[in-house]
Amino acid sequence: MAIPLIGLGTWKACPGEVTEAVRVAIDEGYRHIDCAYLYHNESEVGEGIQSKIKEGVVKREDLFIVSKLWCTYHEKPLVKTACLQSLKALKLDYLDLYLMHWPMGFKAGEQDLPLDHNGMVIPSNTNFLDTWEAMEDLVLEGLVKSIGVSNFNEEQLKKILYKSNLRVKPINNQIECHPFLAQKELISFCQAKNVSVTAYRPLGGSSNGSDLMADSKIQSIAKLHDKSPAQILIRYHIQRNVIVIPKSVNPKRIKENIQVFDFELTEADMDELFKLDRNLRLCTFPTTEKHKDYPFH
Ligand SMILES: NC(=O)c1ccc[n+]([C@@H]2O[C@H](COP(=O)([O-])OP(=O)(O)OC[C@H]3O[C@@H](n4cnc5c(N)ncnc54)[C@H](OP(=O)(O)O)[C@@H]3O)[C@@H](O)[C@H]2O)c1
Repeated sequence: MAIPLIGLGTWKACPGEVTEAVRVAIDEGYRHIDCAYLYHNESEVGEGIQSKIKEGVVKREDLFIVSKLWCTYHEKPLVKTACLQSLKALKLDYLDLYLMHWPMGFKAGEQDLPLDHNGMVIPSNTNFLDTWEAMEDLVLEGLVKSIGVSNFNEEQLKKILYKSNLRVKPINNQIECHPFLAQKELISFCQAKNVSVTAYRPLGGSSNGSDLMADSKIQSIAKLHDKSPAQILIRYHIQRNVIVIPKSVNPKRIKENIQVFDFELTEADMDELFKLDRNLRLCTFPTTEKHKDYPFH
């Protein structure tokens, strides 16, 4: 199954609200849900999915469910443990796509973000190429249909693509992308290699990036098309053939975010949006800056 171009983001969707958000999203036509172990809400996401399957609104095979391997599970024997945990929480017997959440391994244990006395992450003694091998095994065992990466830069993705004994190719790189961080080079590279790209943080998230939706250029393009700034920000990816996963737990906004197939941005609109690129990364993960595999130097 091809990855549906729009998916529902679930980061910071509280356990108490995400079940209903997933139910509303499926009713509104979403068929792709972006999950992760780290979000600590996969069990509630799974409840939403199961209830819509039980109601007969969708079948499992109509859905494209993504989860991600967290950094404290990069040691080879832990990869399957992590995948099985996500499957159990989501109440599924396979994932459509399993992503390595970051190229960086952290010390295994209870804490998602183990820090040293300087407040910096404690790495694990792992290498993402070895972790990839354990992810390949998940495909061969039928636990996941495909595998990919997230937050990988071009050099890191090349290391996987050109790995000598590669058994399963990465099909997707999930990266931050919006008009303030257009990612032109990385997207061209991925698409040339048949690695699809998913844009996260498309609306600028809930905090410091929210001025994306307040940007006067984005607002004026929205007015021209009688659409909301969020719809412009989402449509921007569709026209680049980039998959996009806006998060919302608000029924009105969940609906709004998928109503982007009844208009088209002109070439001039797209040019204006590209002019807003200022290499502004919102998800920088500063506690990991000293990690050997930190992707954003
Ligand atoms: N791979 C990674 O490392 C990574 C990193 C970050 C995110 N992600 C994934 O990408 C998804 C999206 O990114 P994100 O959650 O960081 O940010 P986002 O989708 O850019 O923004 C979400 C924020 O925008 C609000 N919002 C949603 N629709 C709106 C609309 N139509 N109008 C106005 N406000 C709206 C949401 O509030 P309401 O919920 O109240 O509507 C929420 O506060 C995540 O949920 C996660 O699944 C992956």
